[in-house]
Amino acid sequence: MTTAHAAVPHPAPAPDPAGPPPLLRVRDLTMAFPGRRRSAPVRAVDGVGFDLAEGETLGLVGESGCGKSTTGRMIVRLLEPTSGSVTYAGRDVTHLSQRALKPLRREIQMVFQDPHSSLNPRQSVARIIADPLLVQGSSAADARARAQELMELVGLIPEHADRFPHEFSGGQAQRIGIARALATGPRLVVADEPVSALDVSVQAQIVNLMERLQAELGLAYLFIAHDLSVVKRVCDRVAVMYLGRIVEIGAKDRVYEAPAHPYTRALLSAVPLPDPAAERSRERITLLGDPPSPAAPPPGCTFHPRCPKAQAVCRVEAPPLRSIAAGEPREVACHFPETDGPV
Ligand SMILES: Nc1ncnc2c1ncn2[C@@H]1O[C@H](COP(=O)(O)OP(=O)(O)O)[C@@H](O)[C@H]1O
Ligand code: SF4
Ligand SMILES: [Mg+2]
Repeated sequence: MTTAHAAVPHPAPAPDPAGPPPLLRVRDLTMAFPGRRRSAPVRAVDGVGFDLAEGETLGLVGESGCGKSTTGRMIVRLLEPTSGSVTYAGRDVTHLSQRALKPLRREIQMVFQDPHSSLNPRQSVARIIADPLLVQGSSAADARARAQELMELVGLIPEHADRFPHEFSGGQAQRIGIARALATGPRLVVADEPVSALDVSVQAQIVNLMERLQAELGLAYLFIAHDLSVVKRVCDRVAVMYLGRIVEIGAKDRVYEAPAHPYTRALLSAVPLPDPAAERSRERITLLGDPPSPAAPPPGCTFHPRCPKAQAVCRVEAPPLRSIAAGEPREVACHFPETDGPV
């Protein structure tokens, strides 16, 4: 790793000193997995910061391997961060012990990408959904009754409570995963590619369900996805990750209408447009090669080997994440952010 790569701080949007703390505040979050044999650690997440308000949805997008899941897993504390902080409702929860985490597990839950592999095949649906309640000390009878209520809430038939996961389709299995996540009445759900493994027609149903549940229960979502059209539909704000870092973050409409980072522009240029005429006339940005390994990030701007706009400075100086327009809560990590509007 070069000095230029390591030295750049990654500030997050300035907190509002007058307001209450956001539901979730993430600052400079880093995960360094041990490298193989004697190689350097892999900085899978390298200084990520953002806020998430109560009831809000933040989309976290980027190519496979950029650190989205690792970020989500640190927030729900399935992984302990190497450095940085996670603050939930004003309380620093970054390094809480497993015991101290127990009450927090009621509040923050996760939905996983592959519904079937995240459900225990030997447990009945009622048992799977009731599990977080049993862990929190509910009686078996209460937990089962609540599991059946939750099945109804997510559009499953409560009479199917004694069936096993393999008896359900992918979409139904994801409904079970969502019901389990909601069992303890969380305020924050980290959804890690919750529809990526599903057929397109089923994706829309699950997205609709998640939107309805959010409206009914006031949930905040960190919605992780690599599909930018799904994120466009569900999110209030979006953060784009590349090689362990956020390269652009802002209100969804602004990021989609006027993407400022060359990487965001490339990702968006690959999303099909509904209007065929617009689709024919628009520019397509093809990225060269695959993302580099986080075990050996390029110096300077880590996107420079693939960036169509790269200049000499990009090879040596890492751009900090910073505001590009006064009055707009958007930040971009690029020496030459685009201000031209749509892709
Ligand atoms: N437990 C682990 N040990 C070592 N490397 C890991 C581990 N988990 C993930 N990684 C690496 O961290 C990087 C980010 O992975 P991940 O967070 O799963 O990305 P994404 O969810 O965006 O696809 C990848 O290079 C991946 O290979
Ligand atoms: S800093 Fe340079 S290489 Fe990096 S995204 Fe901006 S223009 Fe491209
Ligand atoms: Mg992932």
